[in-house]
Amino acid sequence: MAEFEPDKIEKINVRNIKKFKKAGIKISVLTAYDYPTALIVDKVGIEMVLVGDTLNTVFCGCENNLSATMDQMIYHTAIVKRGLKRAMLIGDMPFMSFQADANEAARNAGRFLKEAGADCVKVEGGIEMIPAIRKIIDAGIPVMGHIGLTPQSVHRFGGYVVRGRKPEVRQYLLESAKSLEDAGCFSIVLESIPSILGKEITQNVQIPTIGIGAGSDCDGQVLVIYDMLGFYKNFLPKYVRHYENLANVIEKAVRSFKSDVRNGEFPSETESYS
Ligand code: KIV
Repeated sequence: MAEFEPDKIEKINVRNIKKFKKAGIKISVLTAYDYPTALIVDKVGIEMVLVGDTLNTVFCGCENNLSATMDQMIYHTAIVKRGLKRAMLIGDMPFMSFQADANEAARNAGRFLKEAGADCVKVEGGIEMIPAIRKIIDAGIPVMGHIGLTPQSVHRFGGYVVRGRKPEVRQYLLESAKSLEDAGCFSIVLESIPSILGKEITQNVQIPTIGIGAGSDCDGQVLVIYDMLGFYKNFLPKYVRHYENLANVIEKAVRSFKSDVRNGEFPSETESYS
């Protein structure tokens, strides 16, 4: 059998992403909400780009993700699409776009592909969401599952808490992962669960698991890009690693601009027209 060479893949899709797990090669996933960021993450070779409903908090400044709308998600997904060549583009189904009715779920999922050019959608929830997920997949739309701490259920959980420490929740998550795989999901996000459970779920399913606060044994990892860049600092979960302190970098540049303008040092002659 030919050796699997992930960096030679021209376009990531549901078939080749599964090969990463088989080959034991970890998958990198980041969120993006705008075109310049999309260009960078695609250039670096990030395999999947998620236009997450976290845009409602980290981009729009809302208190949580719940008020994100379909139109807002479609708008940002279409923008990110323009910056991607290789990465698989995931549109995140916002709160109440799929929970109430399976047909409505399929119609809304279809908008991500038709209007925004997404390759697939992500749906929060476990066993209870299987009818909606089946309907979406039956319509020909690949689905990434998302279990554990599902932020759209923040009020039900009473906050952003680690899930799966209690035996009954652990059992529910194990069964949900299996049901999502059986329903045809091509991968599953595992959010804020004990590492040992992240490992167990990863070993129990054939499809790739993508962890965020789910330990190092998942088949891949996802972070919210503004968190890992140190751009958005209002919410700092334990699992975030800051690869940069972008807020400080930007603040320094803005201070320099203000000072140059105040002192008459900007613009210079070379920055002016003759
Ligand atoms: O909305 C989002 O960005 C997400 C990730 C945190 C997985 O769901």
